[in-house]
Amino acid sequence: MIKLHDKYFKPFISSSEIDAVIARMVDEISKDLGDEIPVFVGILNGSFMFVSDFVKKYPKPCEVTFIKLASYEGLKSTEDIQRLIGLTQDLTGRTVVILEDIIDSGKTMFEVHRIFNNENVKQLLIATLFYKPEAYKEDFKIHYKGIDIPNKFIVGFGLDYDGLGRDLPEIYQIKTTEHMTNIVLFGPPGAGKGTQANFLRDQYDLVHISTGDVFRYNIKNETALGNLAKSYMDKGQLVPDQVTIDMLSAEVDKNSDAKGFIFDGFPRTRAQAESLDILMDSKDSEISAMIALEVDDEVLVKRLLERGKTSGRPDDADESIIRNRIKEYYSKTAILKDYYAEQNKYFGVDGVGSIEDITVRLNKVIDAL
Ligand code: IMP
Ligand code: MG
Repeated sequence: MIKLHDKYFKPFISSSEIDAVIARMVDEISKDLGDEIPVFVGILNGSFMFVSDFVKKYPKPCEVTFIKLASYEGLKSTEDIQRLIGLTQDLTGRTVVILEDIIDSGKTMFEVHRIFNNENVKQLLIATLFYKPEAYKEDFKIHYKGIDIPNKFIVGFGLDYDGLGRDLPEIYQIKTTEHMTNIVLFGPPGAGKGTQANFLRDQYDLVHISTGDVFRYNIKNETALGNLAKSYMDKGQLVPDQVTIDMLSAEVDKNSDAKGFIFDGFPRTRAQAESLDILMDSKDSEISAMIALEVDDEVLVKRLLERGKTSGRPDDADESIIRNRIKEYYSKTAILKDYYAEQNKYFGVDGVGSIEDITVRLNKVIDAL
């Protein structure tokens, strides 16, 4: 994902796909034109990359020139097309092929036809790399189309958003969901994960999704997914990941206007982490970070034994049980640490100190995301 000015964009069409499409267009056009020497007219600024790649592939002699028109401001097409640089050569009797990066409303095409009406060219052909069928409002024939795309704003490969993004070699599409801060929170037993999750929830307006709570809620309310999960549990079987993911998906949908989520208790395995990525992607979002509170074993043992004196939780009272729980935590999270570290999304936070100090450390990580 990338950010340009205030907007976020996600990868949409790779440079190798673009390359293949341009090769196909070159093939079609060169076959149609035979030995005729065409004049390719690029519409600046957006078409410079397309024209460059196109003419490099064109197998026969050709001429190349540009006109400069502008109709776009920010994210939308304006009524008023400005002709910034017009034609500078006589095209009488020539075959002209317009090379446009993208045809959206078609207003630019309207202006192009007006320019060429007075030029006495032999024929005027229109070729566009990208075409938005839902946005096109004119009825000029478009002779060659590269890729049909949905009516969503794109950047890259010559196309810009307020000046930025033209240099990108691939195409990115605007993200319709607001940017979210989605955190996978980890911490060994006794690290203070629950306390910190509450702070983060309030500070950043995040929704805390504890998998344990979600399970209990679904089972108690006998939802379809709860009943399904219970049917596995009753047979002593593990609940399949897909059931858990479906529950989390429902939770995310319930909070569709959230600024982000704290996932707690999920994922536990690499396969689950991959499923969570797919889920977030389907919501036009992604996991921003895995944050793990790091606390020395001896400190944890001391904290938990202390808690055991008052909490009455039997698993907090026995030192060897505590040590086992901590060991299990590390053996399980190591895989996830690697998974998120590979994507530069792993952040270890020192979990020793006062509650406020630890919150400040967490804030630093989240604010820098
Ligand atoms: P039209 O005049 O509405 O057909 O728009 C054509 C021009 O608008 C293109 O040459 C681009 O410069 C610009 N444009 C249209 N759609 C997009 C987009 O999704 N991203 C960036 N520029 C666009
Ligand atoms: Mg353009």
